[in-house]
Amino acid sequence: MEKLGMLYEGKAKKVFRTSDEDFYIIEYKDDATAFNGIKKGTIQNKGVLNNEISTILFELLEKEGVPTHFVKKLNDREMLIKKVEIYPIEVLIRNYAAGSISKRLGIEEGTKLKSTVLEFCYKNDELGDPFINEYHIEAMELATKDEVETIKNYSFKINDILSKYFISKNIILVDFKLEFGKSKDGIVLADEISPDTCRFWDSVTMEKLDKDRFRRDLGNVEGAYVEVLNRLEKQ
Ligand code: C5P
Repeated sequence: MEKLGMLYEGKAKKVFRTSDEDFYIIEYKDDATAFNGIKKGTIQNKGVLNNEISTILFELLEKEGVPTHFVKKLNDREMLIKKVEIYPIEVLIRNYAAGSISKRLGIEEGTKLKSTVLEFCYKNDELGDPFINEYHIEAMELATKDEVETIKNYSFKINDILSKYFISKNIILVDFKLEFGKSKDGIVLADEISPDTCRFWDSVTMEKLDKDRFRRDLGNVEGAYVEVLNRLEKQ
């Protein structure tokens, strides 16, 4: 299969067409942005680390019965994926309060939530990815009711699988963002799962091992991403 022209360049990834119309190639970049693109920077080796971390997590989820767009890792920065049409919806799953939920609702960062919170955002850079609910999704025809049900079920299942897996690596899965797409075979998990899209805290020291180190200028950003990968690679 041949890599063809670039289809799309996002903040952290590029997507390329291939000679097989059913498959795309994703290239992970080192570019980092935060606060809807207001803060910009580079995290050394981030593309390589996120490609590997996402590969491990997609393989785990596939093994546990969650369909994903992942086909295989091609090299350091690239993975082969199934062609999907992305729903313009971000799913946020929260186990502990941090980030925007702490700000919006005044819940102290680090508070364990009594039950898992699922939120939706409308994926739209110009509008700053505003929060929406299922009524907006239906009214704006972003997805059907049945599709939203499937997306919610997969999101909670992914949370169960990943929370258990990460705690076995001494990492608390605080919260994360998911994107889903429609493929030839139905709804699949898409995008990436990495320290860019999740909050990971060391379960002993509570040290932040994710993109908050970049967002909040905490230093040692690359070191945190390397630490996550090292723990995932350890049996
Ligand atoms: O900023 P907020 O607290 O709402 O983020 C919740 C989680 O979703 C965090 O893990 C963050 O990294 C992720 N997120 C993301 N992309 C966005 C918004 C949030 O990966 N556009």
